[in-house]
Amino acid sequence: MEKIAVYPGTFDPITNGHIDIIERAAKIFDKIILVIAVNSKKTTMFTEEERLEMAKDSLKHLKNVEVDVFQGLLVNYAKSQNAVSIIRGIRAVSDFDYEFQIALMNSKIGNEISTIFFIPNEKYTYLNSTIIRELSLYNQDVGEFVPQIVSTKLKEKYQNKI
Ligand code: COA
Repeated sequence: MEKIAVYPGTFDPITNGHIDIIERAAKIFDKIILVIAVNSKKTTMFTEEERLEMAKDSLKHLKNVEVDVFQGLLVNYAKSQNAVSIIRGIRAVSDFDYEFQIALMNSKIGNEISTIFFIPNEKYTYLNSTIIRELSLYNQDVGEFVPQIVSTKLKEKYQNKI
């Protein structure tokens, strides 16, 4: 049976930190589905279509990775895809409490699904999407932290904003 995992997040936008995790997870699982969570209460810089396009383009070199969008409870989505695992990255101790709580709840409500945590390469531990958006706002080049398509889209978004 195929071992499928889902890798959920907001991905606003996807960064090299996310890609590092998914590249490593793709060597362990038969198939990974990166799922872009749509949360109507959360304001995002990029629309779900833009986030989907950026993620698909950035992951096209990984043949066993698919990209999808979901709204609702993650464990229900994971079950609908026959996934056995949820993948999350833990970059620092500060991520742990929140991730631990969500993982415990997900394992309670979807008991056959286990969360697996990846520790990112240390060169990405300080990265998050808010920092990338902030740097871009001030016209700082973020090319070394994000895929080419993301860098281009950020430049388009923020051009002449300040
Ligand atoms: N490299 C770089 N940045 C990373 C990263 C990595 N490896 N891993 C996480 N991040 C950053 C993200 O860029 C994001 O940064 P930002 O807050 O500055 O934008 C931040 O860490 C949060 O990560 P994200 O993956 O987007 O998590 P989230 O907390 O927004 O999303 C969901 C969590 C979508 C998985 C969760 O809310 C969910 O499952 N929602 C569906 C409803 C549900 O089932 N809830 C569960 C109840 S128990």
